[in-house]
Amino acid sequence: MSQHEWTAVDHYFEERFNPPDPALDAALQASDAAGLPAISVAANQGKLLQLVALAQGARRILEVGTLGGYSTIWLARALPSDGRLITLEADPTHAEVARANLDRAGLGALVDVRTGPALDTLPSLADDGPEPFDLVFIDANKDATAEYFDWALRLSRVGSVIVVDNVVRGGAVADPESNDPSVQGIQRFADRVAAEPRVSATTVQTVGSKGYDGFTMVVVTH
Ligand SMILES: C[S@@+](CC[C@H](N)C(=O)[O-])C[C@H]1O[C@@H](n2cnc3c(N)ncnc32)[C@H](O)[C@@H]1O
Repeated sequence: MSQHEWTAVDHYFEERFNPPDPALDAALQASDAAGLPAISVAANQGKLLQLVALAQGARRILEVGTLGGYSTIWLARALPSDGRLITLEADPTHAEVARANLDRAGLGALVDVRTGPALDTLPSLADDGPEPFDLVFIDANKDATAEYFDWALRLSRVGSVIVVDNVVRGGAVADPESNDPSVQGIQRFADRVAAEPRVSATTVQTVGSKGYDGFTMVVVTH
């Protein structure tokens, strides 16, 4: 099996489960036109995030790593009309594109795009004493994933779900000698989760239109 088959299978199920979606398509087109990298989640991954949010009955969602707001749209659509999604993005251009995409999708009123490195914006978010987040999606710079997990846990409650994307790193996550800061960041995150008695976690490796990767899902149990 190779990329060709993985992409064909993704398309097979997308044709059946994900009807054409003008707002999502427009978000990808506007992101591309603005020169953003094509590193958003795939449609089936966005749908999985949305289903997790729906199953969770999520009213408050935190995202770290917005890009053009593609995953944000999937997630925000799971919210009730009085729900809230806060998404953190370091790059002001990405944040601006995301705001326009969210407005076009009719979700601007539900979503707060906060600009700045997340390790700078998370402390002020916490200082506001927010209600716990029901779902946190971590998808930013991988070297800081362990720190984002610490913040996610601090801002969660028992029953909250934390999803971390791109944890496989082409398989390099299993290489203890890796010098790649992103790989090392994911390894520190995995060690942190393993040592944390308040959570239970699993990692699923994936293949599809975006290649080979995987995600970790964490549930706060205590
Ligand atoms: C993989 S992309 C996010 C993709 C998005 N979640 C989606 O699926 O549509 C990662 C994003 O994290 C942002 N980022 C990188 N370093 C960051 C930091 N320190 N704080 C917040 N965002 C950061 C990048 O600018 C980029 O837009």
